[in-house]
Amino acid sequence: MPTRAEGNAGSGKTVCVTGAGGYIASWLVKLLLSRGYAVHGTVRHLGVEKTGHLRRLENASENLRLFKADLLDYDAMAAAIVGCQGVFHVATPVPSEIITDPELQMLGPAVTGTTNVLKAASAANAERVVVVSSMVAVEINPKDWPQGKIRDESCWSDKEFCRSNQSWYPVAKIAAEAAALEYGRETGLGVVTLNPALVFGPLLQPTINTSSQFLIYFLRGGPDETRDKLWHIVDVRDVADALLLLYEAPEATGRHICAPHFVTARELLGLLKSMYPGYPCMAEDSIRDMEHPAPMTSGKLEKLGWSSRPLRETITDTVECCREAGFLQDADGGDDTPCRFPPLLNKI
Ligand SMILES: NC(=O)c1ccc[n+]([C@@H]2O[C@H](COP(=O)([O-])OP(=O)(O)OC[C@H]3O[C@@H](n4cnc5c(N)ncnc54)[C@H](OP(=O)(O)O)[C@@H]3O)[C@@H](O)[C@H]2O)c1
Repeated sequence: MPTRAEGNAGSGKTVCVTGAGGYIASWLVKLLLSRGYAVHGTVRHLGVEKTGHLRRLENASENLRLFKADLLDYDAMAAAIVGCQGVFHVATPVPSEIITDPELQMLGPAVTGTTNVLKAASAANAERVVVVSSMVAVEINPKDWPQGKIRDESCWSDKEFCRSNQSWYPVAKIAAEAAALEYGRETGLGVVTLNPALVFGPLLQPTINTSSQFLIYFLRGGPDETRDKLWHIVDVRDVADALLLLYEAPEATGRHICAPHFVTARELLGLLKSMYPGYPCMAEDSIRDMEHPAPMTSGKLEKLGWSSRPLRETITDTVECCREAGFLQDADGGDDTPCRFPPLLNKI
């Protein structure tokens, strides 16, 4: 029997996906097209490098329309959202380099951008907006949260702590998610949020995104130190399923943690070494000790009917995809540019 997330539920419905060409959004667009939805995708550049992989998706020629829109351009966003019953707000900068101008690079697009999308959704009389937030809005130094207590949707990262640490990506994600939920309460627009963990899985887009660089660094090794953080991990295809589920389940409200697996950095390195003994991998002594808090639970999402694939399957599919794309070249004996660990991921 088909579950809610199967079949042709989208037939006759039009939805907008912001940042459609990105890592997570590309899988979401693929899923929506396969379920019969007509999709309006926003991109910043309409050229083939950023959109070719979307235009090649099944059903794209009939059901995908791409719109050029920056998050800070309300009119351009509104033009993409008009005529849509639902909006998936996925776009946010996830920079792989150090942030030097937090307002320009992060806070403006994340927070003002989210407000622009929500206002455009209200103007279009959309029924529901699914906003992609992050685990970084849940798990960073939450105030008054008992040390050993499992972290659920009532847990919020401490924005001021992140600000004092100049962790601009979490500051932006916390502020954007809080603003989105507040907007929904004030206006009655149906706003739900998803808080994915670190996302791995195969890439549809031709360039490497920041979270995929994490796994590539672990396998290739390089000059950077990292911490023995307790990392929560989720597959990009399971994130796409979760986003569609939140759109289609009328009973979904508020936040939803999407973080099925957790493993420390050292455990992950051990797992990768056992699965891929031929890769150089990062040095074990470049991982600094770190205390591990209680993990997060995805129980709320699972109660809606969501499930996730095993971590090993995600790792296998990611490595296979990265190998084919040439992203693991150093490990295979080519390229001598040192691989770097994304600074953003050492700040969360
Ligand atoms: N990957 C993860 O581990 C992870 C985990 C939790 C949450 N998330 C969230 O998931 C979402 C997607 O991230 P991703 O991992 O898929 O990264 P990604 O591939 O870098 O996607 C980010 C998207 O945002 C777009 N974007 C950035 N700035 C924009 C602006 N000013 N105006 C319009 N579009 C803009 C990018 O467009 P361009 O292609 O033009 O740059 C890109 O399409 C983000 O909200 C991120 O915070 C990601």
